[in-house]
Amino acid sequence: MTDNIVLDTINNRRSIREYLDKQVSDEVLSQILEAGFRAPFAAQLCSVIYTRSREKMKKAGVNVYPTAPIHMIYFIDLVRLEKIMKHLGYEYGYDDMMAIWLGMQDVVLMIENLTIAAESLGLGSVLYGLAPIRADSIAKTFNVPKRVFPVVGMSVGYPDPVEETVIRPRFPLEMAAFEDEYRNHTDEDIKICMKGMDEGFIAQGYYIKAKTKVDLVDQEDTIGFDKYSWSEHISRKFRSAFKRGDPLIDILRRHGFDLR
Ligand SMILES: Cc1cc2nc3c(=O)[nH]c(=O)nc-3n(C[C@H](O)[C@H](O)[C@H](O)COP(=O)(O)O)c2cc1C
Repeated sequence: MTDNIVLDTINNRRSIREYLDKQVSDEVLSQILEAGFRAPFAAQLCSVIYTRSREKMKKAGVNVYPTAPIHMIYFIDLVRLEKIMKHLGYEYGYDDMMAIWLGMQDVVLMIENLTIAAESLGLGSVLYGLAPIRADSIAKTFNVPKRVFPVVGMSVGYPDPVEETVIRPRFPLEMAAFEDEYRNHTDEDIKICMKGMDEGFIAQGYYIKAKTKVDLVDQEDTIGFDKYSWSEHISRKFRSAFKRGDPLIDILRRHGFDLR
């Protein structure tokens, strides 16, 4: 703890997966949404849809933690800007890859602002990563037009104290923040990165409690939950999930983006 409330709020944030049976008032909701949109932006190429309906999220293909009271889906949104341009008699002529890039930045900055604002009001949150893959069902459920594309889902609510307050590990600062030039990590550095993450997650029982593993399809899985940790998990994920050519680019095209 410091005597700086903003730093304390940021440093004590953790994802929340169990929520109290307590509604988030419209006033509080407006406050966090306003804070979200106060983030720096490239072109405000972002929108958010919120709902109190778990059923709707389910229909949209986004599985949410069952006790969470409010859910959100964040979108890259090119439609509003195109309408502004049309209003002024301009035709959109921007590269869509670049627009997606800017929209992604606008979205994530908004999310982080909103997240920290929520924390400051006693709320917690968790993100859901599969939204882009569920773009079709999300569009259908929430009446989302083409050229508006989901980036990530989120639940927000008051944390249930039954959930342990655990601050998850991160890489040591010197392994990811560099003065003057990039650090080309040595083997020793990489071991330090892995050790910090792996020992931290094992000590917190993260994977063993959730019984979460990425399956090895082509070889025997000899690593038990006592050894399975972040490095193994993330390596398995980046080895086998979403291989090159997997559907995201097709989904983006289907949703109206011009990607060669
Ligand atoms: C893009 C993104 C997608 C995520 N998807 C999920 C998810 O589907 N389910 C989940 O429980 N947590 C999800 N998380 C939360 C991460 O697991 C969590 O942020 C990470 O383990 C670090 O823990 P902390 O947020 O408590 O510091 C996601 C986070 C991000 C940034």
